[in-house]
Amino acid sequence: MHDKIGVLKYFLKPQHYDKYPLKWSEIFGNKKKIYVEIGFGSGEYMTALAKNNPDINFIGFETSLTALYKAQVKFYKNYIKNARVIQGDARLLIRELFPSNSISKLIVNFPCPWPKQRHKERRIFIESFINTLADVLKKGGTIELATDVDWYANEVYNNFKESEFFEAEEIIENFERPIKTKYELKWDKEGRNKYLFIAKKVKDNKIKRVLEGVSELPHKSIKNIDIDKLKQLKDKHIKENNMSFTVSSIYEDLLNDRYLLRVVSTDDDFMQQYYVSIYKKTNDWLVKLDSTTIPYRTPAVKFTIYKIAELVER
Ligand SMILES: C[S@@+](CC[C@H](N)C(=O)[O-])C[C@H]1O[C@@H](n2cnc3c(N)ncnc32)[C@H](O)[C@@H]1O
Repeated sequence: MHDKIGVLKYFLKPQHYDKYPLKWSEIFGNKKKIYVEIGFGSGEYMTALAKNNPDINFIGFETSLTALYKAQVKFYKNYIKNARVIQGDARLLIRELFPSNSISKLIVNFPCPWPKQRHKERRIFIESFINTLADVLKKGGTIELATDVDWYANEVYNNFKESEFFEAEEIIENFERPIKTKYELKWDKEGRNKYLFIAKKVKDNKIKRVLEGVSELPHKSIKNIDIDKLKQLKDKHIKENNMSFTVSSIYEDLLNDRYLLRVVSTDDDFMQQYYVSIYKKTNDWLVKLDSTTIPYRTPAVKFTIYKIAELVER
């Protein structure tokens, strides 16, 4: 049995920071170069790379909590010091968490190609993410994609070939690398073909980030609240420019003069779910982010707090 606290020390929660993009040299305590892996699965590839390359810092992104946990157990058992993991959609978080010219290499191994047309936007290397990479990668930095899906390798090759920011290398069929991922071992056993694609950044891009700068916890105090107006908020979709929110549930704690609102908000493609609490203080009411869920304090999150305060005030 391993020590659970020790294992979880690799889990970075960027929502708890108040300044973006993050200062990676402060997080790692050094200025070593940075490699990023998206969708590391059980983490065997990242563990081996981190172990063999102590002079590189590794940051992995996963949407799956199980994967995040399994990878951390591997890091812990291998005494890894130069790796961190983050939960969430890497395509959006890489844009927000890394400054320009900060990543030396991005690795994506055997991602789901999302073959259906209606799921196309879930693929990793869509145009918006290629533009993000052209900002956050160092000049001369590379992206490396391994896949068992021929049309997907070709699609990614074409996407990078069309980008003015990258030089696309020819796809290598049935490549061999010193470390194999879990999916790679599986596909090797089935005798599937596999493809390796590498692209090099040759020109800088500048993208717009949603979170740039300091991010405080938004709150607003109001004299009194109108309960009917509050209840009317349920399922309402409120939009202003590129920001919107919906209150999906309202919970009432009558004994303590307290309401909890479950909210989904979006800034363009950046969607988050969290709670807003409204509670009585001595002379007034306070509308604020509930501390059980800390979202990234994007403009839409601030808009949500101020708009709810405005709409429920009596
Ligand atoms: C098919 S698995 C491959 C796992 C591993 N790389 C391997 O080769 O064994 C793809 C992984 O990518 C993760 N994933 C998919 N989209 C993602 C995204 N946008 N951001 C972060 N992780 C993602 C999934 O949770 C899944 O664990």
